[in-house]
Amino acid sequence: MFTFFITGGAGFIGSNFIEYVLKNVPQALIINLDKLTYAGNLDNLEFAKNYKNYKFFNGSINNTELINFIFNKYVPDVIINFAAESHVDRSIQNPENFIKTNILGTANLLNCAKGLWDRVGYNDKLFLQVSTDEVYGSLELDKKDVKFTENSLINPHSPYAASKASADLLVQSYYDTYKFPTLITRCSNNFGPKQYPEKLIPLVITKALNNLSIPVYGDGLNVRDWIFVGEHCKAIYNLVKSRKVGEVFNIGANNEKSNIEIVKQILDIMEKPYSLIEYVEDRLGHDRRYSIDPMKIKNEIGFVAENNFTDKLIYTVNWYLNKFNNN
Ligand SMILES: NC(=O)c1ccc[n+]([C@@H]2O[C@H](COP(=O)([O-])OP(=O)(O)OC[C@H]3O[C@@H](n4cnc5c(N)ncnc54)[C@H](O)[C@@H]3O)[C@@H](O)[C@H]2O)c1
Repeated sequence: MFTFFITGGAGFIGSNFIEYVLKNVPQALIINLDKLTYAGNLDNLEFAKNYKNYKFFNGSINNTELINFIFNKYVPDVIINFAAESHVDRSIQNPENFIKTNILGTANLLNCAKGLWDRVGYNDKLFLQVSTDEVYGSLELDKKDVKFTENSLINPHSPYAASKASADLLVQSYYDTYKFPTLITRCSNNFGPKQYPEKLIPLVITKALNNLSIPVYGDGLNVRDWIFVGEHCKAIYNLVKSRKVGEVFNIGANNEKSNIEIVKQILDIMEKPYSLIEYVEDRLGHDRRYSIDPMKIKNEIGFVAENNFTDKLIYTVNWYLNKFNNN
């Protein structure tokens, strides 16, 4: 059986990816390792209980002994590293956790995988590092034709982005030095079900539902490029199948929105007043604009993310409302 080793699979994107693979690839075995930090939630994996080809381990990507145990037992073909500390604001408060998990944890995973595959062989093996567009830094608001390509400078600003960029460089070095089979993806901002409600979209929904004020950083005009989480998962799965080792791929849906536009759109969907919006002091070092050029993944493997933002936003709002009403 083809075996996936997924890290961080109890978090937002990892749990959506596991659901995608379990539903679409019945011949796959999925091993999920997650430390269950505040962002990891086993409720996100409720559906997986019905699948015999799914196994969960509670532990850290920094735990060499545990990873070697799992690797020796299951001999994964594909390792996908979703595990991370992922919230920029927390990285500004406490960068140490980001350095430990995002950099040292990735280094540990790479070493364990290399040790295993050096012994059993590299046939069809792949280490996919799930990275972010934030490693490229920030773009100017008024230069709409400038986007991040895979050749853009790595120029991270927050401790979060810097830790992800460091991990990317390490992963790439394993390909360049050992021809260890890596692939790096850099996706734009994701939205959809199962995201921890500290991130913009679920935060706005939660606050609005309770008629609480909605904090918006600075002038609210910072721009992010949004993609529905299911499209990110599809892109990753297609890249796994593509076997384009040693490469970096951007993933995006050509969907730039300012933060204030998103907040107002959610308030409109929920029929709540704009008076809930409260402008607050800007985030330190706040990146102004992100924008992904997704041409490489289109040209090389034919993947184009669907961009039906409004429909998916309505779907997402309803998903959170159902969840909160049932709790
Ligand atoms: N959310 C986005 O918009 C976005 C966009 C592009 C890339 N990414 C990247 O995608 C990946 C997943 O992001 P997410 O939004 O699902 O994050 P998340 O915070 O929702 O989930 C992270 C998961 O990793 C687990 N984890 C944390 N430290 C761990 C450790 N040491 N060992 C094992 N598990 C650990 C957590 O328990 C959690 O389940 C991250 O690497 C992130 O950098 C996210």
